[in-house]
Amino acid sequence: MTWIIANWKMQGSVSALRAFAEGLVPLVSTLSRVQVVVCVPFPYLLLARDMFQGTGVFWGAQDVSPLSNGPHTGDVSAAMLQDVGATHVIVGHSERRRDHGERGAWVHDKALAAKAHGIVPILCVGEAEGQTQRVITRQVHEALGEDGALAGSLMAYEPLWAIGTGKTADGATIATMHRHIAHIAPHHPVLYGGSVTADNVGTIVNLPHVSGVLVGGASVRMETFAPLLLAAHKARESA
Ligand code: 13P
Repeated sequence: MTWIIANWKMQGSVSALRAFAEGLVPLVSTLSRVQVVVCVPFPYLLLARDMFQGTGVFWGAQDVSPLSNGPHTGDVSAAMLQDVGATHVIVGHSERRRDHGERGAWVHDKALAAKAHGIVPILCVGEAEGQTQRVITRQVHEALGEDGALAGSLMAYEPLWAIGTGKTADGATIATMHRHIAHIAPHHPVLYGGSVTADNVGTIVNLPHVSGVLVGGASVRMETFAPLLLAAHKARESA
């Protein structure tokens, strides 16, 4: 199974999610080779549950607090995500590292909180322009910790220079980085993210050590997401 995970980031609306779901649900029922997860902003999680429950589409969030329910103004706990049926949560995305200073043990603790509530963390790593594989190694070790408690959670390799730029990493770079991550984190399916579109997804999902994709810009409207899903499904069918 190939994971296609939509990261809506800070985009969308009630009406946009309704229209998106009305297009997505009938399409997904015809695509046996892809598992779709739609990660929406917090205010739309309950609507996502209404639209996707029982359809085969999973829904998730883009962040979670490492703390339990309590006096933490503005934060959202893993228990709350569980309560609205979220199955996945993105953790340590580079935009949160950039905007909120998230890193290291904080990312690890968020993932642990999610897992403790039955939610699969999607741990994001990625290097900036000019940085090397050593940054990825450090991020993977920090995110996973030493105790194996996060075994089975998803990883996402998202080079910063490829996010929202249209500069998708080439196949050789993706294959090299994914092989490296698979070597240091063998029990974690690894997704690729960074300017994934209908045009390049077919090649990417068939690269070695790639278990799916994390999609930003092309995931918010069915005009771009439907062709991407079809292309991924077709590529896996012929693999
Ligand atoms: P884009 O697909 O818009 O490049 O975003 C990638 C991303 O950050 C997904 O988490």
